[in-house]
Amino acid sequence: NSPNVLDSYERPLRDLRISVTDRCNFRCSYCMPAEIFGPDFEFLPKNKLLSFEELERLVNIFSKMGVEKIRITGGEPLLRKQLPELIHKISLVEGIKDIALTTNGTLLKKFVPQLNEAKLDRVTVSIDSLDDERFKQMNGIGYGVKPILEAIDAADKSGFPIKINMVVKKGVNEQDILPMAKYFKQKGHTLRFIEFMDVGNSNGWKLDEVVPSKKILDLIHKEMPLEPVEENYFGEVAKRYRYKGTKAEIGFISSVTQAFCSSCTRARLSAEGFLYTCLFATKGYDLRTPLREGATDEEIEEIIRQIWNNRDDRYSEIRLNETPGIKKSKIEMSHIGG
Ligand code: GTP
Ligand code: 5AD
Ligand code: SF4
Ligand code: SF4
Repeated sequence: NSPNVLDSYERPLRDLRISVTDRCNFRCSYCMPAEIFGPDFEFLPKNKLLSFEELERLVNIFSKMGVEKIRITGGEPLLRKQLPELIHKISLVEGIKDIALTTNGTLLKKFVPQLNEAKLDRVTVSIDSLDDERFKQMNGIGYGVKPILEAIDAADKSGFPIKINMVVKKGVNEQDILPMAKYFKQKGHTLRFIEFMDVGNSNGWKLDEVVPSKKILDLIHKEMPLEPVEENYFGEVAKRYRYKGTKAEIGFISSVTQAFCSSCTRARLSAEGFLYTCLFATKGYDLRTPLREGATDEEIEEIIRQIWNNRDDRYSEIRLNETPGIKKSKIEMSHIGG
């Protein structure tokens, strides 16, 4: 029970992001482009996925090491069968103060009551446009935006705090910035603008497709004046602002133009039980094998402790100095859920 496990830059381990499936019903071009994630793409077979019992055990071990926040991600996490059961199990783990879910919203509406009962704390929904045509194009499967907005209203009604994530790509959805800001300001949900990132190996990322947060901030500030807000917790990913004279907020996640590695306390677990110490990691550490081969909790804790102690990732801070031509194979976003 020694909470402060520090990495090589003295960053504590505080958050665990758990991917519960590598599958998704959307094919967003920046994450799972349809050309690559086609009908023949092989996803993880069921026997390779960590079971809820295995996940619960890991969360217990992580919580003893200082983890307080859990985020459930995918792929699309609501595609995992009986997901509320897992959330309920995690909600009972001592030391876990916050459980959040990142979802594309397609299955959210029908799960709202069960998620509530399971004691999920909050929900983050990804939406890149309110324009039906553009939304359909960006999610790669022609899914309309209306049902997603309805699901958000349902989650809101049942009391979930809600955040919205919008990935902005130059020339693709810049025109949606102001309409999104206005809509979610009025709804009272925090909208966060995310700079398009070079996660994985398949989204064809180019620096000139990134819209810097500063540009978005200026654009919104001109129409609706903003003021900065203090961070909610150490190492908060989004820089937040408030619309002057209101309680409504927006945020900026600027991994490209203002890296935040120095306070990164996040570990990521893939659906097959590999631990990643960075969103841009080139390798993960197998926890499933020791779990299934009879390791004790103490032994697993020691494995994780060593991994975290040796952690020296700061990809976003050094990305632009990477020598061109040297390409390493990074983990795909759909495996670790962002
Ligand atoms: P809150 O607890 O609500 O502040 O959540 P969050 O912002 O940590 O989580 P969310 O899943 O909503 O993340 C939003 C975006 O930030 C996603 O696109 C993530 O990929 C990105 N993001 C989150 N953590 C990191 C990180 O450690 N590094 C980088 N580069 N991006 C991150
Ligand atoms: N760049 C930035 N954000 C991304 N997301 C997925 N892929 C990328 C990318 N290449 C976002 C999703 C979701 C969050 C978990 O990650 O839109 O909101
Ligand atoms: Fe699915 Fe989210 Fe990736 Fe889009 S960003 S393909 S919704 S996992
Ligand atoms: Fe953390 Fe890696 Fe993101 Fe930096 S790039 S904030 S180290 S996950």
